[in-house]
This record gives sequence, structure tokens and C-alpha cells, in this order.
Amino acid sequence: MRQLRVDLPGRAYDILMERGCLESAGARVREVCPRARRLFVVTDTNVQPLYLGRLRESLERAGFQVTAAVIPAGEASKCPRQLASLWEEMMACGLTRTDAVVALGGGVVGDLAGFAAATILRGVDFVQIPTTLLAQVDSSVGGKVAVDLNHGKNLAGAFWQPRLVLMDPDTLDTLPDATFADGMAEVIKYGCIFDKTFFAFLAARPSRGAVMEEIEHVLYTCCDLKRQVVVEDERDRGRRMLLNFGHTIGHAYEKAGNYQTWTHGQAVAAGMCAAAKLGVAMGVTPPDAPEQIEAAVTALGLPGDIPCSLRDYAEAICLDKKSAGDQVSVILLEEIGRAVPHKMPQAQLIERLKPFCREA
Ligand code: NAD
Ligand code: GLY
Repeated sequence: MRQLRVDLPGRAYDILMERGCLESAGARVREVCPRARRLFVVTDTNVQPLYLGRLRESLERAGFQVTAAVIPAGEASKCPRQLASLWEEMMACGLTRTDAVVALGGGVVGDLAGFAAATILRGVDFVQIPTTLLAQVDSSVGGKVAVDLNHGKNLAGAFWQPRLVLMDPDTLDTLPDATFADGMAEVIKYGCIFDKTFFAFLAARPSRGAVMEEIEHVLYTCCDLKRQVVVEDERDRGRRMLLNFGHTIGHAYEKAGNYQTWTHGQAVAAGMCAAAKLGVAMGVTPPDAPEQIEAAVTALGLPGDIPCSLRDYAEAICLDKKSAGDQVSVILLEEIGRAVPHKMPQAQLIERLKPFCREA
């Protein structure tokens, strides 16, 4: 088993990674929730038939009463209506303040269940059991929980750290290729922004099979990098923003495709390539970086380029959470492995993106 500690004062927790650990989940959850009698497990319609039975057995063996809520798979479930429905189900099953919520699934389940845990009864304990690559390397660690609003993604949310993150790398075997590739966009991002050795390691493993042979190392490295950023900047006011490399431009691509054509991971992959090219044009990024990043993402079936109009770029920049007034912080690479925020007027960034405009 591999283990990392997210050492936040008063809210420290472990990230445990072990093949087959769903079977021992009950004992692990008991350690961090000693007073809980009931667990409210949130999962989705794809994950439920695969893993809920095994998890439920393990939790019940540890003496918990388990209530499961199964939400429809997909981003559309990360919404206020589904959140309100979970609140009602939690009350209907008799959840109390000493009980806990468990998220079994990808980032959608984790973000929604986490926000439900943060808000029900003014906050109950929460355990993350992530089952997608994206959730294992990113969304389950760091305490950002949210739902989407009509105005945009993740607009209503909280910081609510889990008491434990428990991940079983074997659960990744059942992911569709496209979902695995989405997670790889975030994995490659860690190499780009923090660790050039890790980037080279990934570049030398240009397929799902090759990555899976080293999956424990991949998960550990990503979670270790994320854990350090979260401890340094839990509330996303400084260094944590570096995790948004490729995301500002990526949001424009998601929007350009009406959130249907491109997945988040595909948009981030192309967004990282564009951000690297932007960095070169601004004299910040070495000229060979874009080609290296494009090779790494396209090897995994992710796009290196997505058509986008200036209007979509402009709207994404104006909505960007890293904007303050008319200024935006775009994340650029000084080299592969070292990211820096670059503050500039929104209008200047929009102007800089003109050469990247291409209609579909
Ligand atoms: P997801 O939760 O929709 O999962 C992707 C698909 O995989 C779904 O259809 C799901 O049912 C299925 N699935 C999950 N585990 C499976 C398994 N083991 N085998 C087979 N199928 C499985 O999407 P995601 O990519 O995991 O997460 C995306 C969400 O995460 C977005 O809402 C995004 O905003 C959020 N996110 C949050 C943070 C954060 O810090 N909180 C960070 C990044 C992304
Ligand atoms: N995924 C970005 C963050 O956790 O800050």
C-alpha cells in the first residue's frame, strides 16, 4: 500500500492507494469515522453495478448501516436539483451529524457528494473513493466540492476536505478508453507544471497499457504534487492556481463545442498545447515545449488543437475564476516542469489569442 498525508492543520487526512482496497474499505473508514453508525454512499449508474456491492459488504462488515444513492452517470447530475434530492434522501434515512457521506465514483460523484456532505446538517464527515483516473489524481484530493449552475461549471461550492481518500487502481481497468485519456490530460499537466522528470517518464509511456504498468507510481506522483499545492494554498489564492494550466483556454474549447463535442480532458489537452504556444509567442516558454506537449497528449488519443472562435475565447476569459477586475492570470510554462502565473488585462490576452482562432 502507498500512503500520503495531506497535512492541513486540524483537517489532516491520508490518501491510501492499494490494489483491491475496496475489500478493506470498511476498516479504513471505521478508523477515521469511529462514531459513525450510518454511511450515505453516493455513486452513479455506471459505477454501481461494478463496485457498490463489494464496497457495501466491506462497510457492513465494519458495522456500518449503509444507504446508497445512485445518481444518473454524467455531468448533468452535478446540479442543484440532484443536490437537493440527496439532502432529502439523507434526512429520510436518518443521517445524523456523527455519520458520514462516502463518494464512490468519478469527479461528478465526488464533487456532488462532497458538497452535499459540506452542507447537510452544516457539514458531516466525508470519504472519497475515486474510481476514475481524473478523480484519483485530481478531484478527490484538495477539498473542492461543487455543483454546476446554468451560468457555468462549479459556480456553487465549498472547500470541504475529506477525512480519507481511498483509491483502488484496479477500478481503472473498467474505464472506457476516452475516460482514461481524459484523466491522462490532468496527469500530463502535473508533469508540465511541476516535474519535468515525470513529464519525460510519461512521454516514454505513450499508451494506456504502458501507463497502467506503472499506475501506482503515476497515482502517487500526481497525488503527492497535488497534496503539496493544497497544503501550501488550500483556498486557491496563489500556487494552487498553477493547476489551471491549460484550463482557461480549455474552457473556451468546451464552450465552443457546447459542452457536447469535447470532454473536459480533451479541452485541457488542447488548452495546454495552446498555452504553450502562447508562452512561446510571449517569450516565456522555450520553443520546443509545444511540440513535446502535443506529442504526449496526441499519443494518448487527446487532441492537440481544437477549433475555436474569438468570441468563445473572449467569453471564457471573462468568466475565468482567475480573473480579478479586468485582469486575468494565465498560467504559462517557463520550461516543462515549471509553471508561472502571468497577469495581464483580459483584452490583451484576447488579442494574443487571435492567431489561435479557427472556425470548426
Ligand atoms: P465522471 O465522474 O463523469 O466519470 C466519467 C465516466 O466514467 C462516468 O460515465 C462514470 O460513470 C464512469 N466511471 C467512473 N468510474 C468508472 C469505472 N471505474 N469504470 C467504468 N466507468 C466508470 O467524470 P470525471 O472525469 O471522473 O470527473 C469530471 C468532474 O470532475 C467534472 O465535474 C469536473 O468539474 C470535476 N473536477 C473536480 C475537481 C476538484 O478539484 N474537485 C478537479 C477536476 C475535475
Ligand atoms: N483541480 C484544481 C484544484 O483542485 O485546484
